Amino acid sequence: MPRNPLKIQKSQKNITWHSAKINQEIRQSLIGHKAVTIWLTGLSASGKSSIAFELERCLLNARYMAYVLDGDNVRHGLCRDLGFSQGDRHENIRRVAEVARLMNDAGIIVISAFISPYREDRENARHIIGDGRFIETYLDASLQICELRDPKGLYRRARMGDLPDFTGISAPYEAPEAPKLRIETGALSLKQSVDRIINYLSEHGIIAGC
Ligand code: ADX
Repeated sequence: MPRNPLKIQKSQKNITWHSAKINQEIRQSLIGHKAVTIWLTGLSASGKSSIAFELERCLLNARYMAYVLDGDNVRHGLCRDLGFSQGDRHENIRRVAEVARLMNDAGIIVISAFISPYREDRENARHIIGDGRFIETYLDASLQICELRDPKGLYRRARMGDLPDFTGISAPYEAPEAPKLRIETGALSLKQSVDRIINYLSEHGIIAGC
């Protein structure tokens, strides 16, 4: 899926798009499965990282190439210069979407675990990655449940006014209106949640079972 070279040349001068000699179909047939991005979105403590890493384990066990891009992890390196203002979150999601796109181009199933609270940023991610490859998955757990879990003590600190711009408390979370998958992580177990995603991937011909 090459970018539109004309569009790039308009905004950035003196760079050229170089196409691979192996097309996506051949690359995919070498690898043996399609590459998509399972974009997990939801409040902090909604289960994104737990589900992402368990799903990665299952897929790798079944010999599918998969890799987790996790919000906390990415903020240790690629996005270490970014905070939690709306502008910084926008840039965080843009960078991650570009990485996911490259990894999908390389044939890897990406599981991204980011709060990604703004609809516009998720739309931008869909645009960068490509609609056919972007599986928006809403981990639907209420603020009340997430706050009760509070594994990192961040909600407590946010309530005390210690942590500015905290999603759900002092910064918004815009829930997806029509996600491809909605998983009620307040009611389902980790295994049930992961199975929902695996079933979706199987039913849509992305993998051949797990
Ligand atoms: S996003 O909004 O830009 O998508 P991201 O998923 O990368 O956020 O990072 C969220 C993680 O950063 C949370 O799991 C939490 O551990 C930590 N964090 C620290 N400060 C905040 C904050 N103000 N709002 C949300 N998460 C925060």
